Amino acid sequence: MKRRDFVQHLCPSMAIFALANACVQANEPVTDLSATEIQEFERVSTKYNEEGYFQEGNLVFVNLSNPDFSKLGNNLAYVNILDAGVLLVRTDEKTLKAFSNCCPHQGIRGAWVFVNGRFKCENHGNSYNITEVNTVSCSSNSISGGLLRFNVVAYKQFLKITKV
Ligand code: FES
Repeated sequence: MKRRDFVQHLCPSMAIFALANACVQANEPVTDLSATEIQEFERVSTKYNEEGYFQEGNLVFVNLSNPDFSKLGNNLAYVNILDAGVLLVRTDEKTLKAFSNCCPHQGIRGAWVFVNGRFKCENHGNSYNITEVNTVSCSSNSISGGLLRFNVVAYKQFLKITKV
């Protein structure tokens, strides 16, 4: 299993995030995480801010049990972690994906809506796919293409997002 798809084995409902680890184990043993990676999650476990995330370099750790992320239990719901530069979106009941929130057109980060499976930036109305087709860079003046996807690793109710 690819690491970026590991998050697909999260429980579908945020209401049962407390059972997320059990759900993961039911689908796939947590063999994908090394002891070092688990220690990394544990090392930052007291560092989450009130909004439920913690940034360290190019890493963003997310605590999905924080109320700010509760709506991610709903299919097609998304959260823009504005200051962390991340869009988190549930694309189906088993899948959460992370993308750059920097608009490929002119770099606006806070004007996104998710419509028909695409993120639309309401600053100028351009929309971008989340299928990694024709990925375009932040503020590259692109008016179409795909948003940059970030790798996601899940552990219990936590995510580690690696920004590139
Ligand atoms: S800045 Fe996003 S569409 Fe122009």
